[in-house]
Amino acid sequence: MQEKLAEIRAQALDSAKQAATVQELTNAKVRFLGKKGELTQLLRSMGQLPPEERPVFGKLVNEVRDELEEAWAERERELFRLEEERRLAGEALDWTLPGRKPLRGTLHPITQVINEAKAIFTGMGYEVVEGPEVEWDYYNFEALNIPPDHPARDMQDTFFFSEQLLLRSQTSSVQIRTMEHRKPPVRIIAPGKVYRADADVTHSPMFHQIEGLVVDEGITFADLKGTLQLFIERMFGPEAKARFRPSYFPFTEPSAEVDISCIICGGTGCRVCKDTGWLEILGCGMVDPRVLKIVNYDPDVVSGFAFGMGVERIAMLRYGINDIRLLFENDVRFLKQFAR
Ligand code: PHE
Repeated sequence: MQEKLAEIRAQALDSAKQAATVQELTNAKVRFLGKKGELTQLLRSMGQLPPEERPVFGKLVNEVRDELEEAWAERERELFRLEEERRLAGEALDWTLPGRKPLRGTLHPITQVINEAKAIFTGMGYEVVEGPEVEWDYYNFEALNIPPDHPARDMQDTFFFSEQLLLRSQTSSVQIRTMEHRKPPVRIIAPGKVYRADADVTHSPMFHQIEGLVVDEGITFADLKGTLQLFIERMFGPEAKARFRPSYFPFTEPSAEVDISCIICGGTGCRVCKDTGWLEILGCGMVDPRVLKIVNYDPDVVSGFAFGMGVERIAMLRYGINDIRLLFENDVRFLKQFAR
């Protein structure tokens, strides 16, 4: 029986050492020290021994039990420590990893062009004003010398809400709103959205214009031309080629349009410039005396010039954008090229 005890002791110590997890260790403990464990069974079979040997053997078994209990407790502490180490290693943070940078937004190219134009004109003494996008027919057409049946209404395919109310088709409405409540001298620009039922590579149903208006004594076409030439030089650089073309607007006389040489194709012709080598960026002219009269200015005392430029067209030329729709799709891959 002593041999049996020695055998159990050796096996038990071995399986405690072999246990790789706390769970395995517990299982082994049950096997040797549990109620039906091998050591317990050995103790029970002690009755087979002669009575005088029993106390000695019983003491021996208890010693082995104590030893094994201690061995288990120690192995358990060791396994807990190992498992803790493994867990911590798995959770380790690498402080040396580079952080994730937040994506930084950029100003939309349209906003950038408007900001630049504002800077150029305020630098020349202009004031920036605004007007409503939902506008009365009066400001968008009538007061600009375009009566209800005037064929010039067809120049702009306008969105109407009713007979009198519309989405402004031009920022020229702000000319009237400004002159209505100011006396000359007037020197303003009015950037904003305008709307026309029109869509292709150079037209969008919503686009931006910057209106300009100067009224004072002695203003001439030379002032208009000099102002626009300076603007073009500052916006596009001294190499930019520009041309003035005679044109017609009901609210200016004489009128002109300004084209910039198409930088998309270098002037050889493409779909953006419709194979002409030029892209129209603005309309302009001397404020028609009839318009001055409508706002109670005296055309015998003051004169003025006005212009309205297309911001998208300017952005396309500035940045070499060959389709106006790119400006409104808000594809981040496109927009982030304009980061500054
Ligand atoms: N409002 C005109 C347009 O949208 C442009 C323009 C503005 C022309 C001012 C002359 C003077 O086409």
